[in-house]
Amino acid sequence: MSCLGIIGGTGIAQLQDLVVYTQQDVSTPYGPPSGPIQEGRLGDARVCFVHRHGGAATIPPHRINYRANIWALQALGVSEIVGINAVGGIGEGMCPGRLVIPDQLIDYTWGREHTFDEGRDGRLLHIDFTEPYSRDLRLALLAAADSARIDCERAGVHGVLQGPRLETAAEVRKLARDGCDLVGMTGMPEAALARELGLAYAAVCMVVNPAAGLGDLPLSQDAMHQILQREAAVVGRLLLALVAAQFSTPD
Ligand code: HPA
Repeated sequence: MSCLGIIGGTGIAQLQDLVVYTQQDVSTPYGPPSGPIQEGRLGDARVCFVHRHGGAATIPPHRINYRANIWALQALGVSEIVGINAVGGIGEGMCPGRLVIPDQLIDYTWGREHTFDEGRDGRLLHIDFTEPYSRDLRLALLAAADSARIDCERAGVHGVLQGPRLETAAEVRKLARDGCDLVGMTGMPEAALARELGLAYAAVCMVVNPAAGLGDLPLSQDAMHQILQREAAVVGRLLLALVAAQFSTPD
């Protein structure tokens, strides 16, 4: 049966309710993943979890080995991945504390290892990325949110920036003109790499601050962490509802 992969982001170093059976150090052709992959059960489902910023939460967005993380999850039998991202809010209603299941993204990152295609196997790989997130997995997340009575935004455009600094106010105005509702740093190349390997991928974004220039207060990491702590519990409930509906495989 299928195994759900979960990639935790800032504030989600551990998955609440995950009963860990093993921690696997997976070696990959692309070097090591961000850390050992935890394999275990979430409810009745088999789940593999990795924290993309590493066990000590010290790997910055541009240094994450996205290829190794995705490759390692697939090597462990994962067929679907939910990536969790902390983001700034730009669009209407995207206020701190809001959960969003984005349906589109715009990639502004650069200099990251963003493809498995090294041009060595005699064919060119042009994946269809019209819909960057798996429609089925998004619908499953939305159904899980409904069943757990979790209020969330059902769509949104996730702008993925290079970081690690936050944006200028003018950059955020440009992102808004581009149509971005959210701004984060780790959504790409993760989503495209998953698609290259044929894995279904969807994101759960937690808005932790108004994007630069849009709030009344200066941006503070302490304030973001406070929101994150609250939202992490809600994301935990959402994932439990997801696996209960879609991934349960009794022992
Ligand atoms: N910008 C980019 N990434 C982020 C933000 C932001 O405002 N908040 C959390 N991650």
